[in-house]
Amino acid sequence: MVNYKIADESLAEKGKEALYIAENKMPVTAKVIRERFSKEKPLKGITIAGCLHVTKETGNLARTLKAGGAEVYLCGSNPLSTQDDVTAALVQEGINIFAWHGNTDEEFYWCIRQCLKAKPNILIDDGADMIVTAHKEFPELIESGTILACQEETTTGVKRFKAMDKQGVLKVPLFPVNDARCKNQFDNELGTGQGVVSAIFGMHVLFAGKKVVIAGYGHCSSGMALRARGLGANVIVTEVDPIKALQAVFAGYTIKPIKETLEEADIILTATGCKHVIPPKNEVFDKLKDGIILGNLGHFDIEIPTKELYEYAKEIKPIRSDVEELLMPNGKKIYLLAKGRLANLVLSEGHPSEVMDMSFGLQSLMSEYIVKNKDKLKPGMIDVPVDIDDQVGLLKLQSMGVEIDKLTEEQYNYIHGYEEGT
Ligand SMILES: NC(=O)c1ccc[n+]([C@@H]2O[C@H](COP(=O)([O-])OP(=O)(O)OC[C@H]3O[C@@H](n4cnc5c(N)ncnc54)[C@H](O)[C@@H]3O)[C@@H](O)[C@H]2O)c1
Repeated sequence: MVNYKIADESLAEKGKEALYIAENKMPVTAKVIRERFSKEKPLKGITIAGCLHVTKETGNLARTLKAGGAEVYLCGSNPLSTQDDVTAALVQEGINIFAWHGNTDEEFYWCIRQCLKAKPNILIDDGADMIVTAHKEFPELIESGTILACQEETTTGVKRFKAMDKQGVLKVPLFPVNDARCKNQFDNELGTGQGVVSAIFGMHVLFAGKKVVIAGYGHCSSGMALRARGLGANVIVTEVDPIKALQAVFAGYTIKPIKETLEEADIILTATGCKHVIPPKNEVFDKLKDGIILGNLGHFDIEIPTKELYEYAKEIKPIRSDVEELLMPNGKKIYLLAKGRLANLVLSEGHPSEVMDMSFGLQSLMSEYIVKNKDKLKPGMIDVPVDIDDQVGLLKLQSMGVEIDKLTEEQYNYIHGYEEGT
């Protein structure tokens, strides 16, 4: 029996089309690994719960895990990112899902709890909410060894787990899949980078000639700065890390403290993983340029002080799907994308399937790795093994028909030795 609560089962046909489109662009996850998993069933008898953005790409990850023999449960990792047509199609395929677009905070955690009640052996999280809930409310799953290990998909989640580990309260083996090279060097940079397009979708705005402020110059934000510049914008970067700021300077961007950008910025896009990147003060809001577009691509909706902006606004008017016009006390208008939540997932479809192919190839192979090594894993943070990272990279290259060189034995010994010098 399939367990589920979704928005609308009648959307299944549309969802199947979306899953098909993604599948064809995900040769690593949805073809090579899935075909092998179908034959070998490495996940037989295992229940996997994913707290992920339930998109057409995540649907294909779920199908691959199921092909490997797993019982799969999914819930959303953001109240606004679930694609309701995809959930309808997946339920028909026997994937257990508790997710719908626009759920409340209370419903969000209810969905997580439904997945944890299934007593999963592997948790795949995006932002840490499911694994933290398991620690707080389902400790028996950890103490009994039901949970073998967990995987984390995004930077914000990894940071939360590092903090838990440091305080000695992380009780499960935790693989920060986000930190694998095949993940954050592609998914974060290319996927979120291309996410600037969400601001265009949101307001149908021309980037050329605009002053676009990108908060942060990390994996996601450096990609966003590059794409915004490519569209002809004058890009200003803000940072708190001196080395990242230097990288941005040498890449040719203007760097300023955020407060100095407020009066000139036409668009501000954040992706820092930090809170209150725009200070939550009325005098700061007063300075924002009339007609400014504010969008966030970081994990939580606190980079732009959404709550404080709503409180200060005289009027909040939805002007199109997931875009609001805030009329401020000084008469200026602010356009807020996606209620301050991940604009690329809310206003668009999230990362293109091609990049999620690598992230979810890693998640698939790591699920298999956990099952194979379950008796050796200890609580705490454990890096994704380099050979799994390399394997996903090689599979991706092969799927693209790209060949690379291989070290000869002599070359290998040279770069790993010290004998040969001047
Ligand atoms: N939208 C998406 O689809 C998507 C995809 C991947 C990651 N994310 C999220 O995006 C966020 C960033 O991830 P990342 O991988 O780029 O992290 P990162 O650590 O590589 O980069 C973050 C950068 O922001 C800078 N920063 C921190 N606080 C700042 C502040 N107050 N002002 C200016 N700069 C500041 C940091 O110094 C760092 O350089 C995280 O919340 C992550 O979970 C979103």
